[in-house]
Amino acid sequence: MNLRTNGQWLRWTGLAVATASQLLATSPLEAQAPRPEDIAAGMRIYRQKGDCQACHGWAADGRKMDSQMPDGADLRSSQLTRARLVTAIKCGIPGKAMPAFDRLAYSDGRCYGMREADLRRLPTQMPDPAAPLQPREIEQLADFLFAKVIGQGPMNRTKCIEYWGSDVEICRDLPD
Ligand code: HEC
Repeated sequence: MNLRTNGQWLRWTGLAVATASQLLATSPLEAQAPRPEDIAAGMRIYRQKGDCQACHGWAADGRKMDSQMPDGADLRSSQLTRARLVTAIKCGIPGKAMPAFDRLAYSDGRCYGMREADLRRLPTQMPDPAAPLQPREIEQLADFLFAKVIGQGPMNRTKCIEYWGSDVEICRDLPD
């Protein structure tokens, strides 16, 4: 190999390395392990700011806490990918009683290309969310749901204590 081809080879490898590291840098969030503080933040949002538990239940098993609220899905057995789950939280589910947590969800077509007027034509109206959530908060919710809820089996005493922060009464009857 003369110097010239050698230099070319180096340039090509350099390019390949640069492309590979770019790919790694832009890989989807789900490829990274969630940080414990994000999981904890997501759990707080589920309980308080988003009040997801009103419809989905504190155990996220679809047994709602507020009898006045619509029946939410059993999130423990959800089959959604992370991308679809994030969309469901941001955009709600048109035609069902799942609220949209992105404040601008139906203002500019970002959700399914639909706007407020399109939603009003549906037989079931979306309730307002307890509070709008920032994209980062929705990612934290997804971190929490995938780490602690989706595909994580039924609620038990240990998970219950973790959720409530102490051994509250509802945790006592659960299996260990
Ligand atoms: C006002 C009631 C209500 C609230 C509050 C609510 N949801 Fe829902 N959610 C629903 C309903 C209703 C559905 C659709 C159930 C069905 O498919 O019939 C749903 C569906 C979903 C789904 C889709 C599940 C699947 O597998 O298809 C996800 C994910 C979800 N909710 C997450 C959340 C999160 C996270 C929060 C809090 C930020 C939340 N929901 C707050 C009522 C609610």
